[in-house]
Amino acid sequence: MSNRKVTFQQTIAYEVVNTSNIFHPQNWALLSTGKIEDARRFVVVDANVEKHHAKALRDYFAHHHIEAKIVVFPGGEENKTLDHYLSLVRELDSFPIHRRDEPIIAIGGGVLTDLVGFVAASYRRGVPYVKVPTTLMGYVDASIGIKTGFNFNGNKNRLGSFHAPQTVLLDKAFLKTLPRRHILNGVCEIVKLAVIKDAPLFDLLEARGPQSVEERFQNEGSGDLLDRAIAGMIEELEPNLFEEDLARKVDFGHTFSYGLETRHEAHLLHGEAVLLDILLSCLIARNRNLLADEETRRIFRLTETLGFELDASTLDPDLLLASLTERTYHRNGLQRVPMPRGIGGCVFLNNIGADEIESAAKTLKEWIAINHEII
Ligand SMILES: NC(=O)c1ccc[n+]([C@@H]2O[C@H](COP(=O)([O-])OP(=O)(O)OC[C@H]3O[C@@H](n4cnc5c(N)ncnc54)[C@H](O)[C@@H]3O)[C@@H](O)[C@H]2O)c1
Repeated sequence: MSNRKVTFQQTIAYEVVNTSNIFHPQNWALLSTGKIEDARRFVVVDANVEKHHAKALRDYFAHHHIEAKIVVFPGGEENKTLDHYLSLVRELDSFPIHRRDEPIIAIGGGVLTDLVGFVAASYRRGVPYVKVPTTLMGYVDASIGIKTGFNFNGNKNRLGSFHAPQTVLLDKAFLKTLPRRHILNGVCEIVKLAVIKDAPLFDLLEARGPQSVEERFQNEGSGDLLDRAIAGMIEELEPNLFEEDLARKVDFGHTFSYGLETRHEAHLLHGEAVLLDILLSCLIARNRNLLADEETRRIFRLTETLGFELDASTLDPDLLLASLTERTYHRNGLQRVPMPRGIGGCVFLNNIGADEIESAAKTLKEWIAINHEII
């Protein structure tokens, strides 16, 4: 046989839909994809969400005569493991679903939607799934794209895949029960987008961020803020869903954070590590005249008014450098570190040195520990 070339193109299409009262019997959003006559659904729900919605969730499927298997999963980074992946697959295998028209439903934070996403990606080589984020991190970030996976061998998301959901259903009422620390955790990803690509979003954060945090994004003013953040995220992800281009603005804050999050005993939440990285990166940017002094001050002031409490103990220059080295492998041999050029602008750097990291870490430590005026 002569050589043959096989090519196939697939269109990825999914909707990110705003909804409310998601478990109300008249709300069809959860069942809007897939069959509903004589149907089954495999549902994985975060334990802290189930606590508040146990009856409504079960009543919903009962009302629609859907045979649902509801698996309660404990959130938290420590549970994003191979063992949990395997136990979910076992549960799924004991409750056979149609391969095309009975989508798995994932209701929870980023840990759950990433893990269940990979279950869906790998089971029978891929079955459909629906994501329902219940944390702010999930709402503005983890649920929006197509990345799935779990932690392995001490590394975050080391095993995973790209697998698009059928739908993402956004109901911000879930945030009412989210602890403040996890609200702030999600806000870090909004700060990221604002600094690296969206100056008006930064203005919105300054104007409405503190109240939105206080009111867990249930206040009217927070709607525009969330919409703008999600629109910005989609704008970045859509043309590069499979990350063919490894220079990604949304990786701002995700270079040094990798080590802070995985290697340090402080066990920072993802967003907390991202915020430290953002501030460190802003200091490096200022030292390179990419950010003006006043712009840098504005960014630092915003973190104060939003109410973050930062942990300076993690800022070990060796760890930060090791993290940059690891991310350089991940980005195929070039640093490709997104850096702000003014608030709302971005440039990618490939030559960040150990001395710059050390100097920025020293300044940030002093700012956190000693005197918030020194920037
Ligand atoms: N796939 C992506 O593109 C992407 C993007 C960003 C982050 N992530 C991943 O997301 C993960 C972090 O997500 P997370 O911060 O949502 O963590 P998480 O899923 O562990 O949730 C945080 C905590 O909130 C609890 N919780 C969830 N919803 C709740 C609610 N409505 N009320 C009360 N408690 C609730 C959970 O039980 C958990 O204890 C990380 O593993 C990160 O790698 C993925």
